[in-house]
Amino acid sequence: MTENRVIYQRGLPEQFKSSAIKLYDQAFGAKISVAVRADEKRLFLLNSCFMPEYGIFAIYDKKLVGIAGYHTPTGSLTGGITYGDLISQLGFIMGNWAALIFNLYERKPRAGELVMDGIVVHSDFRGKGIGSRLLEEIGKYAKENQFNRIRLDVIDINPKAKKLYERKGFKAVKSEQFPYLRWLLRFSGSTRMELSTKGNHYP
Ligand SMILES: CC(C)(COP(=O)(O)OP(=O)(O)OC[C@H]1O[C@@H](n2cnc3c(N)ncnc32)[C@H](O)[C@@H]1OP(=O)(O)O)[C@@H](O)C(=O)NCCC(=O)NCCS
Repeated sequence: MTENRVIYQRGLPEQFKSSAIKLYDQAFGAKISVAVRADEKRLFLLNSCFMPEYGIFAIYDKKLVGIAGYHTPTGSLTGGITYGDLISQLGFIMGNWAALIFNLYERKPRAGELVMDGIVVHSDFRGKGIGSRLLEEIGKYAKENQFNRIRLDVIDINPKAKKLYERKGFKAVKSEQFPYLRWLLRFSGSTRMELSTKGNHYP
């Protein structure tokens, strides 16, 4: 792979949407499956809530190889769904269950803040700097759009991602432990990390 042939772009042409859904699901499907267990329903739901205008996408040789989603006060990469949609698509009981779990995961941006909504690089293309570049593109977007800070949460069973964030200048600001939820979520703690866009870290 020639790194300088990877294109980083905001938003995504329609032809890539289904590969974006699959890639996002490969990384976060296990987490989302707590809310929506059946693969088919989960993919259907992801497809209906996916808003590519809230993402940076890495494309190499006409193939989608990476996604970095974000959440702003106006919307988020996976935010295009309402409580009513969940009920109508999953039924009353499963829809309420899904809403409860999504509520648990919800990280609303505070004033001046951009919150990450997932970053994933295709498994064949990891360790080549694409994740780092996606974070830099998020940084540029945040700066250009007057966000003071980027915030994310990383779970305790993902040290690789945490290391990447630290390398890109994110600082841990808070750790939460919830061992009583491990049976449900499969992780029992997370760290909140932040990066100020006021520094010199990003061009
Ligand atoms: C986390 C993730 C997005 C990182 O993406 P990536 O493209 O592999 O990230 P990078 O290539 O920029 O960095 C990864 C490693 O490759 C190294 N690397 C970067 N550029 C490189 C290059 N040109 N040649 C060799 N190694 C390189 C980095 O130093 C880094 O090493 P480290 O892990 O020891 O710090 C990816 O592993 C992933 O998709 N994971 C699954 C989803 C996930 O966990 N998302 C995060 C949720 S919080």
